[in-house]
Amino acid sequence: MLKKISVKHLKIGMFIHDFNMPWMKHPFLTNKKQLKSPKDLDILLNIGEGEVIIDTEKGGDSSHAYAIEEAQKEIDARLQEDIKNVKSSELGVDAESADAKGREVPFEEELRKAREIYSESRQLLKKLFEEVRLGVNIDGVRTRRTVENMIASIFRNRDALLSLARIKSFHEYTYQHCINVAVLSLNLGMHMGILQDELLYLGVGAVLHDIGKVLIPQALVDKPGPLEPGEYELVKTHAAHGARLVLQAASVPDECAAVALNHHERYNGAGYPRKLSGMEPGKFGLITGLADVYDAMTTNRSYQEGMQPHIALKKVYEWGGTLFHPIYVQKFIQCLGIYPVGSMVKLDSGEVGVVCRQNRDQILRPWVRVAMDVNGKPLIQPLDVDLRKPDKNDFKKFSKSIIETLDPRKVIISVDKLLEKESVEAPEEELKVVIG
Ligand SMILES: [Fe+2]
Repeated sequence: MLKKISVKHLKIGMFIHDFNMPWMKHPFLTNKKQLKSPKDLDILLNIGEGEVIIDTEKGGDSSHAYAIEEAQKEIDARLQEDIKNVKSSELGVDAESADAKGREVPFEEELRKAREIYSESRQLLKKLFEEVRLGVNIDGVRTRRTVENMIASIFRNRDALLSLARIKSFHEYTYQHCINVAVLSLNLGMHMGILQDELLYLGVGAVLHDIGKVLIPQALVDKPGPLEPGEYELVKTHAAHGARLVLQAASVPDECAAVALNHHERYNGAGYPRKLSGMEPGKFGLITGLADVYDAMTTNRSYQEGMQPHIALKKVYEWGGTLFHPIYVQKFIQCLGIYPVGSMVKLDSGEVGVVCRQNRDQILRPWVRVAMDVNGKPLIQPLDVDLRKPDKNDFKKFSKSIIETLDPRKVIISVDKLLEKESVEAPEEELKVVIG
């Protein structure tokens, strides 16, 4: 039974169900705690006055404890208020101007810089993981600088870094996953109208979200196939290890530690380590949780084929309201598009290509990098086609449309190589000459 009680009336043996305060304000690792020693009590008394919620079925009771239902109602009201705040803050977001900020530099121009930023980030992550493994503190200053470069790139063009976040190789999975989660999170954060200072916290937290894995045996992290229950419990500790490592780092704000701790929490409370629910993981935890799952699902591992982006996105959509916050899922899909960058598609012209960037004003009509002509013959020079273009003979119709998504494993083109390749924008006539 849940009861509310003043901190000064707490006794050893009581079970704290909720500290009734943000996680960063108390020193305990989880929001639930069995009070076992006078030291636990001292720590709580030092935090100050106030009330916590105890569970009398799991621990001691007291005549000072009161109002079971009100206590639960209060938790629910707090969650509702949080959700309401997200909605009202969304009303204040000018999505168009946020998107406009990401269109200042043409895709091709930004892609060159984005490649450098991606490569620098990969080097940083590799060094960071090696150093932390040796017991050296996280280099907060370099991490912040790298994330600032990522943010600047995304502000110049939303799709350049995003198109590179498709790059995945077996050997560098962990580093690339951290960069990809940061790029996806920053894109979603920007789409939700998160401001620049907060974007920096989100990005640094996302880059470092899995740093706790350095303290897990490598063989377990890389284990091909499902984990035994005991192994899974061990892997789950990377969230708390990560939070501790981030808190120890100089020049890294505490908000970033919460990202490492909360990125495996789920909307319905089915996550770990604290089984938080609703808005409790905080907006950074919710954003990175989505980005983490989406990137992992779309990556080839030694034991599983990665899903195609649009199939992974469909899964994420199905999980809206259970594993993920429905509004965040909605924003994530708006941000990535119905056909995310990397989706292989067939056009009604018969040509085959890969979605290379979004048109956020028309998410069904992205840019497609055409790589095969109507006869299935690969083009020497890939051509970028804007599906928003009207038919030149009938301006009420579109020139080309997506008719189906294809399984890239059944097509001879490599999506990653195609996205990395230089391409040219195709005027209608030019495309016909090349195909003809
Ligand atoms: Fe993780």
